[in-house]
Amino acid sequence: MKIIRAKDYYDMSRKAANIISAQVIMKPNCVLGLATGGTPVGTYKQLIEWYNKDDIDFSEVTTVNLDEYRGLPRENPQSYWSFMHDNFFNHVNINPEHIHLPDGTNLDAAAECKHYDEVIQSVGGIDLQLLGIGHDGHIGFNEPGAAFELGTHCVNLTQETIEANKRFFDGDESLVPKQAYTMGIKTIMQARKVLMVVNGKGKAEIVKKAFFGPVTPEVPASILQMHPDFILVGDAEALSLI
Ligand code: F6R
Repeated sequence: MKIIRAKDYYDMSRKAANIISAQVIMKPNCVLGLATGGTPVGTYKQLIEWYNKDDIDFSEVTTVNLDEYRGLPRENPQSYWSFMHDNFFNHVNINPEHIHLPDGTNLDAAAECKHYDEVIQSVGGIDLQLLGIGHDGHIGFNEPGAAFELGTHCVNLTQETIEANKRFFDGDESLVPKQAYTMGIKTIMQARKVLMVVNGKGKAEIVKKAFFGPVTPEVPASILQMHPDFILVGDAEALSLI
């Protein structure tokens, strides 16, 4: 595990974008595993800025996203498909055919999860997986107690995650989908490199627990201690307890 200390959110985003950029330069046809949520937005912004300066080229890159709400069509502004297009894909030269997210409208969970695992395999696995971390230690939608050995699967969201996500649904909890398709921890651990971004005081406790506490399914992110190439980029506040 490598920990990179950043001054603030902007610095964290730049440092993370640098690592992604290095990956794309070293292997232009790499497979990037991407995340939604508030934390990586600055990273995407920085990558877009460098793309606009002609410093990075996404034309050969393939992406696989971590997760998608079950039941939300792509076109719904709150789908992760929309999030990724608004915050990243629409602003760079990525080939739309190279973009993969679980299909939230396929309500046959077993079929969709199997298909998504096949997609990840067919592109050769993930070179670099970008992650955020939930206050309870979740990664993707792998909530506390999630089995480490799962591939893509359908989950019931915890009340804490539903509450954390309602900010994206006009603050209305009843609009937040209650299930999601997520890459499993096994899939995440199989990525050749894992890059986590974390910022803010509110994440300091969980960072300490996840990366300096025992490895346990009760803190899903703790398994990353065992990953051979895991990089944590955090701002001063998030890393203040370690
Ligand atoms: C996003 C995801 C989640 C978030 C986590 C942190 O695709 O799977 O695990 O990374 O909930 O979210 P933020 O960054 O909003 O604090």
